[in-house]
Amino acid sequence: MADPQEVLSRRVQSALGAAFGADYAETDPVIRPSQFADYQANAALALAKRLGRKPRDVAADIVAHLDVDDVCREVEISGPGFVNLTLREEWIADRAQEVLADPRVGVPRQDRQNIPIDYSAPNVAKEMHVGHLRTTVVGDALARTLEFLGHNVIRQNHIGDWGTPFGMLIEHLLDTGEHSAEAELVKSDPNAFYQAAKAKFDESEEFAARARARVVALQSGDPETLRLWRELVDLSKVYFNRIYAKLDVTLTDHDLAGESIYNDMLAPVCDELERKGIAELSDGALCVFLDGFTGREGKPVPLIVRKSDGGYGYGTTDLATVKYRVEQLKADRILYVIGAPQALHLQMVWGAARAAGWLPDDVTPFHVQIGNVLGSDGKILRTRSGEPIRLMSLLDEAVERAAKVVAETRPDLDEESRTAIAREVGIGAVKYADLSVSHDTEYTFDFDRMLALNGNTGPYLQYAAARIRSIFRKGELSPEEATGPITLTEPAERELALALLGFGSTVHLVGDSLEPHRLCGYLFDLAQTFTAFYEKCPVLKAGDGATRASRLALTAATLRTLVQGLELLGVHAPERM
Ligand code: ARG
Repeated sequence: MADPQEVLSRRVQSALGAAFGADYAETDPVIRPSQFADYQANAALALAKRLGRKPRDVAADIVAHLDVDDVCREVEISGPGFVNLTLREEWIADRAQEVLADPRVGVPRQDRQNIPIDYSAPNVAKEMHVGHLRTTVVGDALARTLEFLGHNVIRQNHIGDWGTPFGMLIEHLLDTGEHSAEAELVKSDPNAFYQAAKAKFDESEEFAARARARVVALQSGDPETLRLWRELVDLSKVYFNRIYAKLDVTLTDHDLAGESIYNDMLAPVCDELERKGIAELSDGALCVFLDGFTGREGKPVPLIVRKSDGGYGYGTTDLATVKYRVEQLKADRILYVIGAPQALHLQMVWGAARAAGWLPDDVTPFHVQIGNVLGSDGKILRTRSGEPIRLMSLLDEAVERAAKVVAETRPDLDEESRTAIAREVGIGAVKYADLSVSHDTEYTFDFDRMLALNGNTGPYLQYAAARIRSIFRKGELSPEEATGPITLTEPAERELALALLGFGSTVHLVGDSLEPHRLCGYLFDLAQTFTAFYEKCPVLKAGDGATRASRLALTAATLRTLVQGLELLGVHAPERM
């Protein structure tokens, strides 16, 4: 890994071991970027207490044992006992050269883990809403990043494809006729179909009775009912896939692992919980009571695994997901990219699964909490009439608005190219807006802000990449031809090279913390550092051939990092913009 912070960390750590003995070789050397040097090691201050010595003396001891001649051109003790570290230009240049030559752009692989990741998870015959949009976008970015890091990522699209609503949905399908225009509506406007079924269910006792009988037939595996059920799921798949294609996310039919696949596990799950004494009957319902889960007045909150009418619930299915992902998928980590309000639900499911022995200590479940998306009124985003926003029209609007931006910035391009660019910019803007804020915070959906060409936005980064491509076009060479060698003279060149070295550790950080916004922040900083470099250092018109070659190499490395970084986020960088 080329990240100076990590290299210096290791070097200071060995100095600590050499100076104070093996007990100290694991101490965190606390390396931070500094305004007085490139980095500062703060270890001496923490160690002074432990050693009963003056911090500056401890710092002197560290420096005496520090072997960084190849990396640093200056090591200096400052203040109460900081160790200031200034890197050698040649060292930075060599590392940047390595990044440029590396097909992985300086991102080492991690030890391979099996990682099922539960994301998107819309419901059959229902409209996807902005909440589903955010889990889809964040989940997909994590799936791409973890895969790039070398993991075996197993996408699990836990669609809502089972349960009582299917009674009324199937009866409504029969009423409208299987291949009727109304049934076909599920492919484009599923809510209309759902609402119509719901209205009949509420109004007609005769229909409601049929619907209830249909649920029983579905649960007992009646072949004709199952066929109709599958018909509805298939119609919905068409709708989901249209959204996924428009969004350019990696989910396919192969990744569908909906609620229905757990059907046969639900009764055994309950039996096992009961047999092991983890679940007990309470008012006819089978419940798990866990320590530490209490509601108002200290009353224990149950996880209901079988309702008093014998039906199973959302929690039962999620218990089955844990069991399946551990036993069948051999999970090392299990990610649930789902709404923040479901935190308690997951805690209880995992608690019950642990108690049952289905979740071993070496398997880590993780809730990637998705915060709400708000409208400009600060409430959950809805249309004026109070309906949830239709995702498809939201995406179409983003593309339309992007088309206006492109028409202004690139009137020289033909209609067809402009349309293609608008699609990438509009969708990229929406996705990037979801990714650039920490996934568990709420944020306000605002087209103007997400489509702005300045600030931490998708279009800004896409534009940065496109502008670099235009430098190469103007110079009539391809970025691949820019191989250096990199030499660093100007401070702005040094800054840029240093920024490039941070990509690998940033991607690792995203893989470990599961926070894509950290990658957004890095890319935004990198693009700004590049702009500063480009203002001060002419590239194509550099004074001499060697400087030009070096600057072109830095420019090419920046382009590759931006494009690779955006790709991990699932945002495409258009050739021109
Ligand atoms: N279908 C659910 C919804 O639309 C989300 C399911 C999330 N995944 C899970 N394993 N519970 O809210």
